[in-house]
Amino acid sequence: MKTKGIILAAGKGTRLMPATIPASKPLLPLYDKPMIYYPLETLIRLGIKDILFIVQEDDLLTFKKTFGSGSDVGLNFSYEIQKVQRGIADAYFIADKYLDDSPSVLALSDNIFLGKKYFDYANSALLKMQDVGGSIFGLPVPDPEKFGVIELDNNNNIIGIKEKPSNPKSNLIVPGVYFFDSNASEYAKTLKPSDRGELEITDLIEIYLSKKKLALEILDNSIVWHDTGNANALLEAAQKVKLYEENNDLKIGSYEIASFEQGFINKNELNNLAEKLIKSDYGKYIKEYLTKV
Ligand code: G1P
Repeated sequence: MKTKGIILAAGKGTRLMPATIPASKPLLPLYDKPMIYYPLETLIRLGIKDILFIVQEDDLLTFKKTFGSGSDVGLNFSYEIQKVQRGIADAYFIADKYLDDSPSVLALSDNIFLGKKYFDYANSALLKMQDVGGSIFGLPVPDPEKFGVIELDNNNNIIGIKEKPSNPKSNLIVPGVYFFDSNASEYAKTLKPSDRGELEITDLIEIYLSKKKLALEILDNSIVWHDTGNANALLEAAQKVKLYEENNDLKIGSYEIASFEQGFINKNELNNLAEKLIKSDYGKYIKEYLTKV
């Protein structure tokens, strides 16, 4: 079965108010492009063509206007609404029919990764999922108590995944990209809401762990990760993206280029997309890129 992609983009962005009054968080610019372009690029670079956006009801029209059917980038986009914010694992309820027994990669719209090796890590995690059943990233951070934390025994075996523990048992956290086989929706149906009233993704990961079907892909410190939850984090992430693009002379988060590099669209089609954006540096970058390939 083909792996499908899900982007959970239904966050209200209350910690970013008032910036999120006119437009929801995933549509806010992160440097020169909407935040959601970055997870979209990740899914495409994993070879995924079928992508479901889970959005708030109020945003549905804006999303459809922005991304359409996906045919102009060689992709198949679908849309579902999350009416009540019931947590990340709720995505697998909402996506149950859409997935139709396919494995999937779920990406949160506000998690941004920078680093040359990032897509290699993502592809390796995808292969591990196909092999084992589920796989997650592990990433060392200085403030693990704010995230889902991986508990390890002395031999570095995972023994638990805890959501925002007050006494974290390691500094390894699980950032927002999750790789699960076709059982994810069935397992999600057995989850109970946590104390904060959410269906926790960490509880779903623990089900895979309890069935010995969980693989871990540890990202090394060449990978810079941002969760763009508040205004400072958003600004800092934007500055990092700008610097990263300047230092490496490339653009990240361009899902149009990612689609071209995957062979989903040809040079002509990419050129047509660039023409529409030609007044911006983003459009000019794609045009220049096309002269080199
Ligand atoms: C969520 C998840 C958490 C994960 C984090 C990554 O946290 O629950 O496990 O580490 O995303 O951004 P939340 O955004 O709900 O604080």
